[in-house]
Amino acid sequence: MRELNQEFTTKLTRWFRENQRDLPWRKDKEPYHVWVSEIMLQQTRVEAVREYYLRFMKELPTVSDLAAADEETLLKLWQGLGYYNRIRNMHKAAETVVGELCGEFPETFEGIRGLCGIGDYTAGAIGSICFDLRVPAVDGNVLRVMSRILEDGSDIKAAGTKKQIGSVLQELYPESNCGDFTQGLIELGALICVPNGQPKCDMCPVAEFCKAREHGTQMQYPVKSEKKPRKVVQKAVFVLRCVDEEGVERYAVRKRPKSGLLAGLYEFPNVDVERELTLDEAIAVAEDWDCVPMHLTRSSEFKHIFTHVEWDMKGYYLDVHEMPARFKWVTDEEMEAEVPLPSAFGYFL
Ligand code: ADE
Repeated sequence: MRELNQEFTTKLTRWFRENQRDLPWRKDKEPYHVWVSEIMLQQTRVEAVREYYLRFMKELPTVSDLAAADEETLLKLWQGLGYYNRIRNMHKAAETVVGELCGEFPETFEGIRGLCGIGDYTAGAIGSICFDLRVPAVDGNVLRVMSRILEDGSDIKAAGTKKQIGSVLQELYPESNCGDFTQGLIELGALICVPNGQPKCDMCPVAEFCKAREHGTQMQYPVKSEKKPRKVVQKAVFVLRCVDEEGVERYAVRKRPKSGLLAGLYEFPNVDVERELTLDEAIAVAEDWDCVPMHLTRSSEFKHIFTHVEWDMKGYYLDVHEMPARFKWVTDEEMEAEVPLPSAFGYFL
């Protein structure tokens, strides 16, 4: 088996240049572009990020635009991506870049890493892609690729594993075009050394360096410790509809508390329950909110999975007579354009 050396780096970067996907954030090396895309890519699939990224750049084309944006605009642009604190942190970091650094993104690893919400991975990605720094960016893709290449059985969730793999990679960084090496590793993980199913070793540009391929153990890596089971919370969710004096349908939403899960986003009114509510019980809840329910039009059930908790939700669609001021009453158009409603409640639309 060949030891990892500069030939590994050369083969991987060459393969990346010839085979990389055409992605909107790869059109230039503008740190704002790479930063926004990297944060989005931590949340969801590349294909889903495309749309979010293009919309975000259309709305907020520069770091100054991000710094000047208000929270609800940002939450709306982030709607559906989850981990909403990430966009709040980006906003703070943009304020720092504009307010303290004259709009210039820092160009050292430490400078980038010092911005709010930027950890080792993101700083490594921005540093290597935008500023040609010899710094690794180790995400889940890279951990998978490297654990196979090295046949490294360390738990990829353990704190030291990322650092250990990072220090192996650090030595392999080229003198220039560092971003191609960073993205080559990521791209290899996405296209060849895939997470689900057999990796496509026949097409791998660095197969000759891979211990797992030599021993046929690819599927045994990466090693991941068992997760704790998620807490399950049962919820009764109310889609309260009222027709206003002008005959326009409005729906009740409310803002969630400032801290905790989905902080500051909007939701349909809901309560945690021990067991499914009877119809009478559901109506009593709406009455407690002074809504004067007329009738239930339908009900539906959805499950939403967060990192540490699962919501099992039953939705009650109630037509009501009053629009108590405890809720915000919005039209379909307002919901679509202005209300940051997280995916967990989007099922009920
Ligand atoms: N995943 C993480 N970073 C990425 C990038 N720059 N391109 C594609 N997928 C990624």
